[in-house]
Amino acid sequence: MNPLLDSLQPYPFEKLRLLFKDVTPPAGLAHISFGIGEPKHPTPPLIRDAVIDSLGGLAAYPATLGSAPLRESIAKWITQRYDLPSLDPLTEVLPVSGSREALFALAQTVLDARRAADSEPAIVLCPNPFYQIYEGAALLGGAQPYFVNSDPARNFACDYSAVPADVWARTQLLYVCSPGNPTGAVLTLDDWRELFALSDRYGFVIASDECYSEIYFDESKPPLGGLEAAHKLGRGFERLVMLSSLSKRSNVPGMRSGFVAGDAAILKAFLLYRTYHGAALSTVFQSASVVAWSDETHVRENRAKYLRKFTTVTPMLADVLDVRLPDAAFYLWANVERTGLTDTEFAQRLYADYNVTVLPGSFLARTAHGVNPGRNFVRLALVADVDECTAGAQRIVEFCRSLSVH
Ligand SMILES: Cc1ncc(COP(=O)(O)O)c(C=O)c1O
Repeated sequence: MNPLLDSLQPYPFEKLRLLFKDVTPPAGLAHISFGIGEPKHPTPPLIRDAVIDSLGGLAAYPATLGSAPLRESIAKWITQRYDLPSLDPLTEVLPVSGSREALFALAQTVLDARRAADSEPAIVLCPNPFYQIYEGAALLGGAQPYFVNSDPARNFACDYSAVPADVWARTQLLYVCSPGNPTGAVLTLDDWRELFALSDRYGFVIASDECYSEIYFDESKPPLGGLEAAHKLGRGFERLVMLSSLSKRSNVPGMRSGFVAGDAAILKAFLLYRTYHGAALSTVFQSASVVAWSDETHVRENRAKYLRKFTTVTPMLADVLDVRLPDAAFYLWANVERTGLTDTEFAQRLYADYNVTVLPGSFLARTAHGVNPGRNFVRLALVADVDECTAGAQRIVEFCRSLSVH
């Protein structure tokens, strides 16, 4: 067996299962979950209909490159959304089977283990807390993850200036997540300027995970994207790719439809890798994705649902926890320190007393530079409907008040 498999950590939900193993929640209260970050709004009828209309595609093998209409619809969406002059659908866009597999596979394409073999392993830089796929992709690619802690005092920005030069020199790939899971923080143009300068100096690739980009709370302020930042700063897409998907934007996590866009040289190598990897998106879902990327009405309706939940739930919780509206995405990242409980104690007792699930922040981060930056936080995914989210928030308020520190 591949010995690197032993270096993989259990997934956060596995850790949660163990944490709750001996806990029996009150039978009289229906379970409310803020735990898993999976979209739960119904799939828009126009996409369901497009899937049904495309079923004839089952008779064909899908092309790894994706169909021309799909690449064109994605390129059009990106140029409109990020105000870019143009994007070549043939060389600068590649459909993938959801951003998760692409985030993983990209590392296997980019990392050059030989370059590191005679010295120390290559480094993959990850934000901390982070989406666990980055770490697994680094480890299975023979690299070493290096975590840059997010700083609550600076809207959860990562302090890249604290990364030593010898670490940058070994860095081959840097993941950013904007809007971030779990913090919701969006990278600013200044953040991007700093990252581009570092990439130019040390030669590493930036993979920008932007799958939450369409869930935000002010219609006039869509989150800045990586390609958009590059364009605004007057540069090309060298060593930069963005990854996104329809999962959250269009409520179709089961369709597994996403894309990678940016540096044509990286995408050419990625396409070669993927020809062997064999993860082409089904022809049925390629056709339905064209319909989804070409419509914004359902995306605005989706955002309105999240806005209602966040404007209801955030002030309720702000009475008992340190929490505020994030820049974007569908998570509340709440500091529980004032309850006197650790993140794991908070999650366990909330489940035991009120049958509500939240995810301890430390499960989403690693101890790095002497601290686990998720330690005092819990993540709430506001994915259920507004009534369920409100009822869950009410129980959390009661739970915090019952701790008698308030
Ligand atoms: C930060 C982040 N990136 C990527 C993904 C993968 O999403 P998908 O593969 O559905 O595009 C997720 C899913 O939860 C996520 O939270």
